[in-house]
Amino acid sequence: MSSKINTSQLNNNSRQQCRWHGYPTISSLEFAATQAILNASQQAVSQNGEFHIVLAGGSTPRRVYELLRTKVTDWSKWHIYFGDERCLPADHPERNNRMAAEAWLDHVSIPASQIHIIPTEQGAAAAASTYAQTLSKVEVFDLVILGLGEDGHTASLFPDHDWGASPNSLSTLAVFDAPKPPSERVSLTARRLSQTRQLIFLVSGSTKRQAIIDWRNGQAIPAAAISPDNGVDVYLEEQLLQT
Ligand code: 6PG
Repeated sequence: MSSKINTSQLNNNSRQQCRWHGYPTISSLEFAATQAILNASQQAVSQNGEFHIVLAGGSTPRRVYELLRTKVTDWSKWHIYFGDERCLPADHPERNNRMAAEAWLDHVSIPASQIHIIPTEQGAAAAASTYAQTLSKVEVFDLVILGLGEDGHTASLFPDHDWGASPNSLSTLAVFDAPKPPSERVSLTARRLSQTRQLIFLVSGSTKRQAIIDWRNGQAIPAAAISPDNGVDVYLEEQLLQT
């Protein structure tokens, strides 16, 4: 039985409203996140007949994607997007879309036309432009899933870089000097990631402790720039809430 600590706080340095959900174990966090994603899909499908979700990259969400693979739901209503992608060949195992495919998407019946991969094999600038066109077809996402880097980055929005947080920012950014390899990436902007009904950060691992401390102290880390109208839910190991 997962118990969770639910504390809310307004982030001091932006209008971002954070709800912090601490879990005793990584598996209880992953179970809760999987259920939250399914709940969001059921709500979206019952209201609009389809579900538009943006996936996180990195390693943290892998187990959640593997758990989703075992679920029974109407996959034909799901539309998949990616919050960022690494500029690597299309079949490279380090691509975020490859991780999601191997863990989940290759094993369920979401129509291929509804899985919107960022074509970074084209190069960052071309892929950012192409994906902005793709995103123009969906005004508001139903759910965005994001990770958190040790330096407070999220998607491929890094400290001391442009996060695309202003109201007139484009939907996507080409990144050429990312501190996390590979250096060339494409990311949705903070503005575009914020256009969502619900947003969940998944954070685990002691290496993220300082980023969480900085975030909760109101420091201007990239993750704090994501500010949907309905706020954000941060699913994390409760040990990361204890300073
Ligand atoms: C990427 C991700 C990145 C990731 C964080 C956390 O391409 O690497 O988009 O933003 O979510 O770096 O990564 P982990 O989940 O592996 O700790």
